[in-house]
Amino acid sequence: MVLRGDICTLRSVESKDIDTILLWENDPAVASFSAPHEPYSRYDIEQFVRTQQQGFFINGQLRLMIEVKGLVVGAIDLFDYNGWQAEVGVLIYNEQHRNKGYASAALQIVTDHADEMQIRRLKAVVDTENLPSRTLFERCGFVKTDNFTYICNMKRIIAPSILSADFGNLERDIRMLDESRAEWVHVDVMDGVFVPNISFGFPVLKPVRQATKKIVDTHLMICNPIRYVKRFVEAGSDYVTFHYEATDDIDGCIDAIHAAGAKAGISIKPATDVRIIEKWLAKLDLVLIMSVEPGFGGQSFIPSSLEKVRTLREMIDTCGADCLIEIDGGISEKNAGEIFTAGADVLVAGSSVFGAEDQKQAIVKMLEAK
Ligand code: DX5
Ligand code: ZN
Repeated sequence: MVLRGDICTLRSVESKDIDTILLWENDPAVASFSAPHEPYSRYDIEQFVRTQQQGFFINGQLRLMIEVKGLVVGAIDLFDYNGWQAEVGVLIYNEQHRNKGYASAALQIVTDHADEMQIRRLKAVVDTENLPSRTLFERCGFVKTDNFTYICNMKRIIAPSILSADFGNLERDIRMLDESRAEWVHVDVMDGVFVPNISFGFPVLKPVRQATKKIVDTHLMICNPIRYVKRFVEAGSDYVTFHYEATDDIDGCIDAIHAAGAKAGISIKPATDVRIIEKWLAKLDLVLIMSVEPGFGGQSFIPSSLEKVRTLREMIDTCGADCLIEIDGGISEKNAGEIFTAGADVLVAGSSVFGAEDQKQAIVKMLEAK
């Protein structure tokens, strides 16, 4: 975790000159450093930063100084920084430092270190004629979501669903996942009542838990889930997600999952309006949008799910909840890019991973999809 005041000597990307990014909270006193655009010596900045030590600053503005050969040439501002979402602005102080790649190198460094800074999404708002910023953000992997806004989803997670795995060689398939860039393992539990299919339960979950260090993401497609949530946590689930349509005690399910020590998710079927779960967002760790009818792998992605992701993203950003968006069903490298850009954090993929020639590569292609 990078703390305010840390001096991070970060690997620079494009510009061979950038050697240090200074991280500090930007309060009114700092304005004096940024108003007159002449460069400052590293000593001044460091002294200033040290006198400002008050622990890590959330819900405010963070400023990263771009320093080249001991000279501060610009800054990156993270506005409304609440630990995972921030607006970003890039400032290069003087004409002679422009167009040397410093800004894009610094921005790239921020996106490379998003994990340790706990930033999952960066939003850049550019005005119409600001062409240099547009190319800058596009070059750094930001995607334009409307005429003035660019989004960069840093924390992209793929959760392969083992429903599509080869159960005659489950250990081999879990080992593949363990060696892959997938960060989660998605476990689909079906009871044959809530959905017209039966999959597996505790006897499968336990060996999966033993076989991997990755996040075990259990998706309960069962009626009255509160009966079993504790046992699914004890069997090794890190996340337990139940269906909105399967219970009339949503608070009880969330509380039971938290009490058992796991993170709680709620899932909604394609026909369920996403706004219906708004009142629980502050309590939830995850919302799972079904982009197919639950019950089977290998179905086609329901296109209207994208709008649901955008709506949910807006709901979460508005209320400031720290809740992940997961989407599940019919996902592959063909649609992963637009789904991440719509605001999803976690993509579940079964048949597009386990049915692929090169399963690990199928995961990489989804992570890097534009
Ligand atoms: C369906 C499950 C999904 C499914 C995904 O009810 O919840 O996780 O296994 O499989 P694909 O990626 O093949 O649609
Ligand atoms: Zn699932």
